[in-house]
Amino acid sequence: MKLPIYIYGHPVLRTPTELVTPDTPGLAELIENMKETMYASDGIGIAAPQVGKSLRLVYIDVDVLGDDMPELRGRRMVLINPEITVDESAPTVSREEGCLSVPGIHEPVSRHEKIHLHWTDEQWQEHDEDIEGYLARVVQHECDHLFETLFIDRISPIRKQLIRSKLAAMLKGKVSCNYRIVGKNKR
Ligand code: NI
Repeated sequence: MKLPIYIYGHPVLRTPTELVTPDTPGLAELIENMKETMYASDGIGIAAPQVGKSLRLVYIDVDVLGDDMPELRGRRMVLINPEITVDESAPTVSREEGCLSVPGIHEPVSRHEKIHLHWTDEQWQEHDEDIEGYLARVVQHECDHLFETLFIDRISPIRKQLIRSKLAAMLKGKVSCNYRIVGKNKR
């Protein structure tokens, strides 16, 4: 089932998330619904808070970018309770990002080029992987959602100033996108 996407201004995006356990009610259904919602809105990643659930759960599918970045072909991941470790002294790269929860805004964000990711998949298998490049960016963006952070929190003060009126309009419900949304006023 397609779910509405909670957008900038809604408190659920700023709410701490809980660890997922095998007893988390409706987990399999939630994962399926997140996939369906993400594909229907042409996203490449989605985190549970974006569908109104304060859980440490992410789905990523970057296969669609495989023509430009062959290493992304076939990369689909359910991340349960993901944990990122970074070498803070390692290089960062700036590249444009967008977010289903911040429709119509794209801004460059500086991210670590390489990360180490530990996660559990939907079969409860644990994984450890060094991830770099664009996938590392997507993972960092989605995991930020689990810790009350949006990409617009990470842009420069000047860029933030430039999008201020767009964000203010979003808070007033003036936003157009081709998927169902829940805004600040729970429309
Ligand atoms: Ni996002």
